[in-house]
Amino acid sequence: MGRVAVTDGMDEKAIEMITDNGHDVVVKHYTEEELLSGVLADFDAVVVRSATKLTRDVINSSVNKETGLKFIGRAGVGVDNIDIEAATENSIVVCNTPRASTKSVVEMTIAHLLASCRNITTADRRLRDGVWAKKELVGTELSGKSLGLIGYGRIAQGVGNIAKALGMDLHAYDPYVPKEIAKRNNCKLHNDVDSIFRMCTHVSIHCNLTEETYHLVNSSRINLMPGVGDDGIHCGNHLVNCARGGIIDETAALEAIKSGQLSSLALDVFEIEPATSNPLFDNENFHGTPHIGAATKEAQARIGIEMASLVIETLNGNKPKTSLN
Ligand code: MLT
Repeated sequence: MGRVAVTDGMDEKAIEMITDNGHDVVVKHYTEEELLSGVLADFDAVVVRSATKLTRDVINSSVNKETGLKFIGRAGVGVDNIDIEAATENSIVVCNTPRASTKSVVEMTIAHLLASCRNITTADRRLRDGVWAKKELVGTELSGKSLGLIGYGRIAQGVGNIAKALGMDLHAYDPYVPKEIAKRNNCKLHNDVDSIFRMCTHVSIHCNLTEETYHLVNSSRINLMPGVGDDGIHCGNHLVNCARGGIIDETAALEAIKSGQLSSLALDVFEIEPATSNPLFDNENFHGTPHIGAATKEAQARIGIEMASLVIETLNGNKPKTSLN
C-alpha cells in the first residue's frame, strides 16, 4: 500500500481510482514551511498542480534513506514549479499530463481573442453600469488579420486551426517544431521572433516559461506590431497569454496600452500568482482570468484519470511509460 499526497486538488474520480487500488490519499495543501520541513517524506507520491512549488530544497527534504517520495505527478502541463534535476538526483520519477487539457486551453485562447476584439468585457461592465454603449463599442473582426503564435506545440496548432477557420493568416515562431507541421497547417514558420511582431496585429503566447522566454514580449517587440490588419483595417494590436506568466513583461505591456500601441491585453496567467492586485486591473483595455485555461470538467477528468493511472503504475513498482526524467 502506498501513501499519496494531493496538494492542489484533483478530480474525485481520480482519487477514488487510487484508493480503490488500495492506496491512501491525503488531500491537503501544505505551506512552504511545511514542505521545507520534510512533510512529503511521509509519502511515496505527490500530485501537484501549479500552486505547490517543489524546489530543490523541498525535494531534498522529501527523501530520506528508508522512506520518501518516489514519484512527483504534475496534474497538468507546465513543470516550471518542479525542479526536475533535483528530482532526478534523488531518483524521483516526474510525470505530467501534457495532452489532457489541450482542447480546453485552445478554447480559452480563442475566447480571449474574441473578447479582446469585440470589447466583450467592457460591454458587460457598461451594461451593468446602466450604460447602453452601442455606438462606443465598435470592434474589429479577426477575419483578415494575422495571428502570430509564439510556440507552435499542440495548443498553438489547435488555436491556429480555429483562427484559420475564422479567416486569419497564421504565423508562428518555434525553433523546436519541424517545418512540415507548420506547412501542413498553412502556417508560416519564422526564424526569428521579431518578424512575428512585425507582421501580426494579434499575438498569442504558447511557449514554456524558461530563461530564454522570460520577458520575450517586451516594449521593443510590442512597438514592432503594425496596428493595421492585412485587410487594411486599423484594428490595433492585441496580445493574449494563456501559457505562463512572465513571458510578457506586464509593465511594458501596460505602458503600451497607455500609449495606444497595444489595444488590448488578455491574460489567463500572471507574473505573480495568485494575482489578487495588479496595476493592469485598473485599465479597461486589459481583461483577465485567474489561470483557468485548463479548468473545465472535461480537462480535469482527463487529467485526473491519466495522473491516477501513472500514480498506480508507479506504486505497483513499474516505471511509467511517459516520465519527464
Ligand atoms: C498547466 O500547465 O497545466 C496549466 O497552466 C494549468 C494549471 O497550471 O493549473
